[in-house]
Amino acid sequence: MRKPRIFVTRLIPEKGLETLRQESEVEVWPDPFPPPYEALIQKATGVEALLCLLTDKIDSNLMDAIGPQVKVISQMAVGFDNIDVQAATARGIPVGNTPGVLTDTTADFAWALLMSAARRVVEGDKFTRSGKWKTWGPIDFLGPDVTGATLGIIGFGRIGQGLAKRAQGFDMRILYFDRRRNPEAEMKYFAQYAELNTLLREADFVSLHTDLSQETYHFIDDVRFKLMKPSCVLINTARGPVVDPGALYRALFSGTIAYAALDVTEPEPIKSDDPLLKLDNIIIAPHIASASFQTRDKMAMMAAANLIAGLKGERLPNCVNPLVYNS
Ligand code: GLV
Repeated sequence: MRKPRIFVTRLIPEKGLETLRQESEVEVWPDPFPPPYEALIQKATGVEALLCLLTDKIDSNLMDAIGPQVKVISQMAVGFDNIDVQAATARGIPVGNTPGVLTDTTADFAWALLMSAARRVVEGDKFTRSGKWKTWGPIDFLGPDVTGATLGIIGFGRIGQGLAKRAQGFDMRILYFDRRRNPEAEMKYFAQYAELNTLLREADFVSLHTDLSQETYHFIDDVRFKLMKPSCVLINTARGPVVDPGALYRALFSGTIAYAALDVTEPEPIKSDDPLLKLDNIIIAPHIASASFQTRDKMAMMAAANLIAGLKGERLPNCVNPLVYNS
């Protein structure tokens, strides 16, 4: 029997591909860079399923180009702001994502950024490599204590709670802000709900864990930076556009806040002439918070499982638009 044709937009961990090959005829985009939009359209046209990444723009135009035979769009990521989910739902296409498996790995990385920023690990490494380390300095490379400080978590979902769990080990006071209060998680992580402005005023570290939506686009702007302490460290492992990059530059340059540590930027990748790259009080990682061997294997397998369920006409184990099953 003919196997259904699918397109995978980049080389993903072999464990996922292995599963896909058992059920489908797989074409993988071979380049290390994402397929340009036109190439994506060309490759995806006529397939029965698409396995995509957060670097692919999946809009209504692309969905129409793929054709009505497409049974599922499976994204190997938990975030899916690159996909027009409403358009997929309108066309009856289920969209899958990979929540849960990357929670700890991403929270670990947010914690690593927080610690690296506070204790100036990246600056110290650059200093050593450049041959500037000549002596032990009693007032060199000072940073704020993490133990006992106040952590403000914006977005108290799985990853935000994962960060709170780590912060407990450092005796931190934990404040959180979210659309919804979560009394169960408050008890579990000794976290206290705070109004947004209170959190921004009181936190020594602010960590972002919201999804990207119209509501959260440039959520951290000039006005909100001005509410933060001049000693505040901002951590972003959510999505770049949750922070207004111009406002971030102004805040770091003028000392409105002390430091930022980012895993995500706007745009992505950040341009090589971006003024943020000229500052010393910022760490910028290339969107690698979920990049552990084990987690990327799990994400690939989960994306493959969603895709195969979709091909078989079964409900996706992790579907972001369950409304498709109502019609
Ligand atoms: C990574 O950013 C993801 O959404 O999985």
